[in-house]
Amino acid sequence: MTVNQQSFADLGRVLVIIPTYNEAENVERIVGRVRASVPEAHVLVADDNSPDGTGELADKLAAEDQHVHVMHRKGKEGLGAAYLAGFRWGIDNGYDVLVEMDADGSHQPEELDRLLNALRGADLVLGSRWVPGGRVVNWPKSRLLLSRGGSTYSRLMLGVPIRDVTGGYRAFRKETLLGLGMDEVASAGYCFQVDLAWRTVKAGFKVAEVPITFVERELGASKMSRNIVVEALWRVTTWGIADRVARFRGGAATR
Ligand code: GDD
Ligand code: MN
Repeated sequence: MTVNQQSFADLGRVLVIIPTYNEAENVERIVGRVRASVPEAHVLVADDNSPDGTGELADKLAAEDQHVHVMHRKGKEGLGAAYLAGFRWGIDNGYDVLVEMDADGSHQPEELDRLLNALRGADLVLGSRWVPGGRVVNWPKSRLLLSRGGSTYSRLMLGVPIRDVTGGYRAFRKETLLGLGMDEVASAGYCFQVDLAWRTVKAGFKVAEVPITFVERELGASKMSRNIVVEALWRVTTWGIADRVARFRGGAATR
């Protein structure tokens, strides 16, 4: 495993937030990979009381390593809610950079240095599958279509100049999260990602995309469901229409 020799101290303190729901097969490995890849970073596992014991496994990791922290949440409330709670914890505990990363290995910790390097010139960095150099490994055609379609639909509907607007491998500066109106975010499922990217653009922050290789999980199951897709489609469509109505009336875009 490659150990990163670079320092990101100029960016401040880095916290990698990993939301988990039933990731017992993955949690130890992903935390170990983050620790090896960027040793100065801290990790927060935000577990929604997983019935498979993910939270207890994370507690063991935290007991052995001062860079590992665990947030135990009362029950499954969606990826978005877990990230919002993680962001607040991170900001309250003095972190300057808040990173989003899945537990299942889809977001490779070995690529984290690229996101952090790009953050030196941006307020939000997105790990992107749909820019040149970006790739997806082991996805069925149906999932590729859903993801590319979702990203394109969101980009056109909302007018955000981002290729991979649904992606979940991201690095935010604290100031970006504080400036985008985190407290008004209601999205629970994956449209949370679209919501935050759109808010970041509207608030005037600089967004950079860096290519990543997204690797489909080998262990455990995806939590993607029909409800999550319907929520995303519904919310993106209503945001897009409300934004157009506001522009048509001559006002600024809704905030
Ligand atoms: N705490 C918590 N609560 N964690 C959750 C929940 C929840 O309700 N639902 C999912 N997670 C965690 C999973 O345990 C995993 O670590 C991460 O969130 C992503 O969940 P997956 O189920 O693996 O998501 P995916 O692979 O289908 O979706 C990924 O790609 C999407 C875009 O294509 C994610 O990165 C999404 O954020 C992204 O929009
Ligand atoms: Mn996944």
